[in-house]
Amino acid sequence: MSAPRAIPHHIAIVMDGNGRWATRRYLPRVAGHKKGVDALRNCVRHCGDVGVKVLTVFAFSSENWNRPPEEVSGLMELLAVALAREVPQLQSEGVRIHFVGDRSGLSEKVRNGLAHAEAVTAANQRLVLNICFNYGGRWDIAQAAARLAARGEAITELSLNRAMALAHVPDPDLVIRTGGEMRISNFLLWQGAYSELYFTDKLWPEFDAAALDAAIADYAKRERRFGRTSEQVTGPGHGRKVA
Ligand code: IPE
Ligand code: IPE
Ligand code: MG
Repeated sequence: MSAPRAIPHHIAIVMDGNGRWATRRYLPRVAGHKKGVDALRNCVRHCGDVGVKVLTVFAFSSENWNRPPEEVSGLMELLAVALAREVPQLQSEGVRIHFVGDRSGLSEKVRNGLAHAEAVTAANQRLVLNICFNYGGRWDIAQAAARLAARGEAITELSLNRAMALAHVPDPDLVIRTGGEMRISNFLLWQGAYSELYFTDKLWPEFDAAALDAAIADYAKRERRFGRTSEQVTGPGHGRKVA
């Protein structure tokens, strides 16, 4: 529990900066999102290669509906196209895809694409890829509480945890945000309680294998204390159960 494994089991990423990447090149914003899919493909591959077991990415937030309609429809189209194009390769790499978010707000085409990607990759075990789309941390907490209430179940940390959209994986060890902003923007509000945070100015389309290695190297230097003291974590009593 104390000293982190050198390689985080679960990495979560706020893939930010696509729009700025495109604008700096006098391209439409959606060109940045397309380039972002390339960065994600490389990131998934590298995570699998270095032994990360779960990768959770923020692709579209509950608040991103407030963007110009052409950008929103471009992102919806891109998700459907990217899923159809990438699934065979992900399948051969042993990647299991999970959709995380509110499906009810999505078109039938997008919903079908997600369901197909999940079904085709369901038996894969090398890397879990959680795609957070139409996702918000507040939505997740509220939907979990509403489901428990509807079943007449008591609301406890454990029951909420089990009703949340990421109940199938342990909490993220490392949360990365590209694009230079130092905020969470409604990502993993519950599950990120004890995640190590890593911010980089690199824009998401520029985030390559070396950038991921740098984030993992930074993580490996952290001391995760989970509320204990440093002495408890690293001292002579290390490893003993603390009352
Ligand atoms: C992140 O890139 C992708 C989505 C939010 C869909 P942005 O589109 O937010 O890029 P910037 O922050 O405007 O550069
Ligand atoms: C967060 O990025 C959401 C995703 C990366 C999908 P935003 O660009 O939407 O975040 P804000 O608006 O700058 O906080
Ligand atoms: Mg942004």
